[in-house]
Amino acid sequence: MTLPNLAKNILVLHGPNLNLLGSREPEHYGLTTLQDIDLRLAARSKQAGVTFSAYQSNLEGELVNRIQQARHDGVDFIIINPAAFTHTSIAMRDALAAVRIPFIEVHLSNVFAREEFRHRSYFTDLAVGIISGLGGKGYELALEYALQQVAGD
Ligand code: DQA
Repeated sequence: MTLPNLAKNILVLHGPNLNLLGSREPEHYGLTTLQDIDLRLAARSKQAGVTFSAYQSNLEGELVNRIQQARHDGVDFIIINPAAFTHTSIAMRDALAAVRIPFIEVHLSNVFAREEFRHRSYFTDLAVGIISGLGGKGYELALEYALQQVAGD
């Protein structure tokens, strides 16, 4: 008999162009690479005994598929930086609404201090909360909150 995997499960999703972190517009996004961010999150999750996965895609449909898959994978909490899809993607919003998994929206830059088209998000009103402008640290703070939440389940 196989025992069910009772470990809590956290998923981090990164939208388009975030694979370029480290070299992409460092004045907005800093010098930390996506790999550095994911490695830090993975180490902290391991320490907390939580299953962690991270996924980046430049394609909207792939991100929608990954959100749908999260329901089947038993993901308890999502941390998501939808990047440019923040301001355009009703499909990703609908996917998050459909799976009903709590999520935090993260942005490296302070989107409210930038161009007006970045002020609108299709995600914020569904999110547990939003962290914007704290660079890579924002993901780590979101993870601390997620760890507390899943520990309380
Ligand atoms: C971003 C902000 C978005 O407006 C932008 O399109 C991104 C990154 C951020 O992390 O600050 O690609 O989500």
